[in-house]
Amino acid sequence: MDKELKQLKKRALEEFEKIKNNKELEELRVKYVGRNGELTKVLKQLKDLAVEEKPKIGKLANEVKVALAEKLDDLSSQLTKNARGSIVQATDLTLPGASVKTGSLHPNTIIQYELEDVFKSLGFQVLEGPDIESEYYNFEALNIPADHPARDMQDTFWLTSGEVLKTHTSAMQVRAMEKYGAPLKAIFPGRCFRYEATDASHDTTFYQLEGLMIDQDISIANLIAVMKELMKGVFGKEVKVRQRPGYFPFVEPGFELDINCLICGGKGCSVCKQTGWLELLPCGLVHPNVLKAGGLDPAKYSGFAFGLGLTRLVMMKYGIDDIRLLQSGDLRFLKQF
Ligand code: PHE
Repeated sequence: MDKELKQLKKRALEEFEKIKNNKELEELRVKYVGRNGELTKVLKQLKDLAVEEKPKIGKLANEVKVALAEKLDDLSSQLTKNARGSIVQATDLTLPGASVKTGSLHPNTIIQYELEDVFKSLGFQVLEGPDIESEYYNFEALNIPADHPARDMQDTFWLTSGEVLKTHTSAMQVRAMEKYGAPLKAIFPGRCFRYEATDASHDTTFYQLEGLMIDQDISIANLIAVMKELMKGVFGKEVKVRQRPGYFPFVEPGFELDINCLICGGKGCSVCKQTGWLELLPCGLVHPNVLKAGGLDPAKYSGFAFGLGLTRLVMMKYGIDDIRLLQSGDLRFLKQF
């Protein structure tokens, strides 16, 4: 019986080691120390033992019983602790939440969307053209033939195919006229490319926003009215404007439109170089040759066009003093908007 008890203890403890959950623990408790358990059965035989054997075996039996019970209790509290541990891990409400990284709009895009909203409210449609443009739409159709000195006004990236990276958003003018005819009210925001040495105010890539309005009897007065509306939308207040003559082959007459300096209100400061005025955009009435290229009759229709320097406006609005930051992809810069 001595041997039997020792073997039973060994077998039970080995099986206990494999317990993985409370259910298994209960099953083994019943199997060994339950009312009809294996140990219980052995204990019941104690009464049949010879008197001289009784104390020794009785003591051993009791030790086995206590050992098994202790082991089961141990395992039980171990299981409870583990379970509590894993619950705590899954739902620790005191942990700080994981922050989600979100992107933001490029300052250029922010201003572009603002301008688009103003123009849409005035009934303009928003069109975008290709970055790789044909020589025809970028130059020819805009009254700039191949031998015209005005081709030198814009330093051009020529592709081996004979196409160009569009040097200005004016390239969309004739495309739009061909597609939509007249009357036409449209803006073309877009990326432009110039073969230039870069510095704080020049980059090879920048953005313009072109405007085009064509109908019967369109004059400079319409242009000024639209520009004033635009300034009100962008700066939230009435802004005084003035025009100076400017030359562009695709407008006649052509102008440079200035706005009253927003920093000093026209008194003169370092931003406006003491003139009280800031150059805003070139513009003019669409040249008859351009209307013709777009399939429109210059005797019937007239229109205005302007080429807003979107990048310049962004720099002015946010006080950015180096144009190269805008294309740098530097997150420390971009995160500020
Ligand atoms: N496309 C001209 C430029 O980039 C600007 C312009 C647009 C001038 C429309 C007049 C009218 O320099």
